[in-house]
Amino acid sequence: MHMVTICALGAASQDVFLSGQGIRAELDPRTNEYMEEFTEDFKLGAKINVDTVAFATGGGATNAAVTFARQGLGSSFIGKVGNDFAAQAVLQELDKEHVDTSLVIHDQQLGTQYSTVLLADNGERTILVYRGAAHSHAATDYESIDFSNFDWLYVSSFAGAMEALEVIFAKAAEAEVKIAFNPGGAELKEADKLRSLLEHVELLIMNKEEAAQIVEGQSSEELVRHMLHLVPTAIVSDGPNGVVATDGKTVVSAGMYEDVPVLDRTGAGDAFGSGFLSYYSQGKSLKESLIFASANSTSVVQKIGAKDGILHKGVTLHDMPIEEKDF
Ligand SMILES: Nc1ncnc2c1ncn2[C@@H]1O[C@H](COP(=O)(O)OP(=O)(O)OP(=O)(O)O)[C@@H](O)[C@H]1O
Ligand SMILES: [Mg+2]
Repeated sequence: MHMVTICALGAASQDVFLSGQGIRAELDPRTNEYMEEFTEDFKLGAKINVDTVAFATGGGATNAAVTFARQGLGSSFIGKVGNDFAAQAVLQELDKEHVDTSLVIHDQQLGTQYSTVLLADNGERTILVYRGAAHSHAATDYESIDFSNFDWLYVSSFAGAMEALEVIFAKAAEAEVKIAFNPGGAELKEADKLRSLLEHVELLIMNKEEAAQIVEGQSSEELVRHMLHLVPTAIVSDGPNGVVATDGKTVVSAGMYEDVPVLDRTGAGDAFGSGFLSYYSQGKSLKESLIFASANSTSVVQKIGAKDGILHKGVTLHDMPIEEKDF
């Protein structure tokens, strides 16, 4: 049988996660909701103690590539790294996970993306990010790449490099490779260019705030229906409030897979999108694919780092609140 092969394109990074008493989230005594700032002691000139330091690799595309590989699919990562220790850490981890990195591009000037994640005790986080090589995609970097051996491309944040994306999408379309797209904030700001890219896209995955930037609508269902004017299959996720997907034949709405304690929400979106495509690319239904996507992201938020919790092939899934209706 043909093994489905997916190429994840986008960012690679090294992430360091810092947590401890000094990086707590605090409840506002008046509203009993978490405040938007860390504690009062978190001030310019302060010395803040941390209790734990954890290193992991991240970047949306490498996280997605690990989902594909752990699900037994052929998996490649293409993106830009530097020539530094962080690049070695990323490539080593991807090798260990059986992700092909032979097409990775090394920038000669810039370092590998490096994120310092300040992790509060409620699972929220603030990230200091050096984007480096992950911010330097040029169209010429991708012109000579042959995508024809892949069944799908999974494209995530490209730091607004619309010309590079145009080259990639046109080459994929020419080679009849399907495209799943989870655009980043910088792509969403380029609304006109984004729309022309979407002509080549089979599957568009966004969270609710992102979807509201390109189509009209209040609810996830309204947004997802409007996205179908742009692409054949659309998904809108809304964190713990669930997700809606449609392919123009049915509309599937799902709730929470499991109400779990969130340790670190980094990678939730990547695990969701790549989890969905792992199943969908193998011919599973929207509903089956959404259940696996939800299970994968729910597992990831219970671990520190974006990759640790990614599910392996064969894990038993359980039911979740999910309903399907005609479009
Ligand atoms: N608190 C939570 N509890 C359980 N599952 C969650 C939680 N937060 C997110 N998820 C799961 O992760 C999926 C994707 O989350 P979300 O809609 O927040 O994506 P996102 O905003 O794109 O995330 P990211 O910031 O990682 O890009 C959700 O559909 C849900 O299945
Ligand atoms: Mg996201």
